[in-house]
Amino acid sequence: MSEKNVLLKMEHISKSFPGVKALDDVQLELKAGTVHALMGENGAGKSTLMKCLFGIYHKDEGKIFLDGKEVNFKDSKDALEHGVAMVHQELNQALKRNVMDNMWLGRFPMMDKLPVVSEKKMYEQTMEVFKDLGINVNPKTIMSEMPVSQRQMVEIAKAVSYNAKVIVFDEPTSSLTEVEVEHLFKIINDLRNRGCGIIYISHKMDEILRISDEVTIMRDGKYIATKDSKNVTMNEIIKLMVGREITNVYPPKDNVVGDKYLEVKNLSAEYSKLEDVSFTGYRGEVLGVAGLDGAGRTELLENIFGIATRRSGEIYVDGKRVLNRNSRESIKNGFAMLTEERRATGIFGVRDIQANSTVSSLERYLKGKFMLDDKKMSEATQWGIDTLKTKTPNQKTQIKNLSGGNQQKVIITRWLLTNPSILLLDEPTRGIDVGAKYEIYELILKLAKEGKLVIVVSSEMPELLGICDRILVMSGGKLAGEVDARKTSQEEIMTLAAKYV
Ligand SMILES: Nc1ncnc2c1ncn2[C@@H]1O[C@H](COP(=O)(O)OP(=O)(O)OP(=O)(O)O)[C@@H](O)[C@H]1O
Ligand SMILES: [Mg+2]
Repeated sequence: MSEKNVLLKMEHISKSFPGVKALDDVQLELKAGTVHALMGENGAGKSTLMKCLFGIYHKDEGKIFLDGKEVNFKDSKDALEHGVAMVHQELNQALKRNVMDNMWLGRFPMMDKLPVVSEKKMYEQTMEVFKDLGINVNPKTIMSEMPVSQRQMVEIAKAVSYNAKVIVFDEPTSSLTEVEVEHLFKIINDLRNRGCGIIYISHKMDEILRISDEVTIMRDGKYIATKDSKNVTMNEIIKLMVGREITNVYPPKDNVVGDKYLEVKNLSAEYSKLEDVSFTGYRGEVLGVAGLDGAGRTELLENIFGIATRRSGEIYVDGKRVLNRNSRESIKNGFAMLTEERRATGIFGVRDIQANSTVSSLERYLKGKFMLDDKKMSEATQWGIDTLKTKTPNQKTQIKNLSGGNQQKVIITRWLLTNPSILLLDEPTRGIDVGAKYEIYELILKLAKEGKLVIVVSSEMPELLGICDRILVMSGGKLAGEVDARKTSQEEIMTLAAKYV
């Protein structure tokens, strides 16, 4: 077998931030025409390694070679111009501008002989790339009007339009639907066949084994191993990632479902398909919501929480009607909602962990009328860090400096500190590593055991089957059915999910 040539080589890379050695002598070798997965727990250093490649961070030590030549990119633009592109974990786009502006920003095609941007060329060139990749998006759509998944497709198209030979995907599928994931994999396969080298970062094991040729595992900022994906099992990877054997994926289900608690009657939304949804939730219950993307699961939660316009319907807690006309009113009524796009909508980037943890529960820390009790705030924050095992140097670290998964844990803490009795969680383990997922499941069950009602939307069916008591299945904006999580099967849920499609 002929050895594929090495496109990118990173060796002895180290990088420290105040209080953390994020990378400690890390190596990575990417061959042409392969997909190389990069794996590790939240905070292991995956994104940091890639940011060192792109000159977003300056490495303290180590060398990077592209096609055998040493490179030191100044910034991502410099990297792009050398054929190295990245689709970031946090999308960084000009949301008020349209798709084609975002594609060609900084290199707009000009009119012949005139120093004027040619909208026509821009449109045509965008269409050309989209056609090549099978992307169905109008280049003139304003970015903010598109779902995250489509915005991500634009980002991918942009990388391809630079003729990149190395493309890094940092958790690309975290906001994609199943159909979109298939589409992305087709694109990735295509790029591989064209001879590109792909670095693929994800916490989804099944994806890694499916799409990658090799996998490099990192732990605590260190290089652990590189394996041939064909000769490695999921369990081996997990063991290398966490440094120990994980025996149980789900904690024992020992919550007890009690009395009727929440009643939702004939809920319909004004601006979405959500129609005539009625269900009951019980104290101490973990209630799942399954369905395909677009089935109205997020809309249902948003409607209950009062952040989407309700057309009709009623909500009762303990038999008493609540209005939940906006999030503030809902919080007062004991509700909390963890949104799906929490990284985009929930984070105060330059504020520290403490501020981000306590911002929604400030009245709990009042000393007198106007003063906030620092000690109480710090205790509450520490409780969150300990409960969710959030990896941070300390409470004063700015949240933007945490790894993606750890930022999410802070946002989860924020909601827990409001001491809600009904929790609405939209994809709570998205972007969370295997080990930490277990901690979140434990937490969900602990809350249920305290008599709370936890409603969980998830696209991962095994997860719903593993932690829920009952599962509501949505389809085309309607409730298609309700199943007992202990007796149902993935097939039954899928059949219901397709009912009104
Ligand atoms: N700008 C920064 N300042 C301080 N610390 C940072 C900075 N960027 C990253 N870190 C720290 O470096 C470590 C590695 O973070 P990184 O984002 O690379 O993790 P990751 O492997 O991508 O995790 P995830 O799976 O959660 O995205 C973390 O401890 C993080 O807090
Ligand atoms: Mg990351």
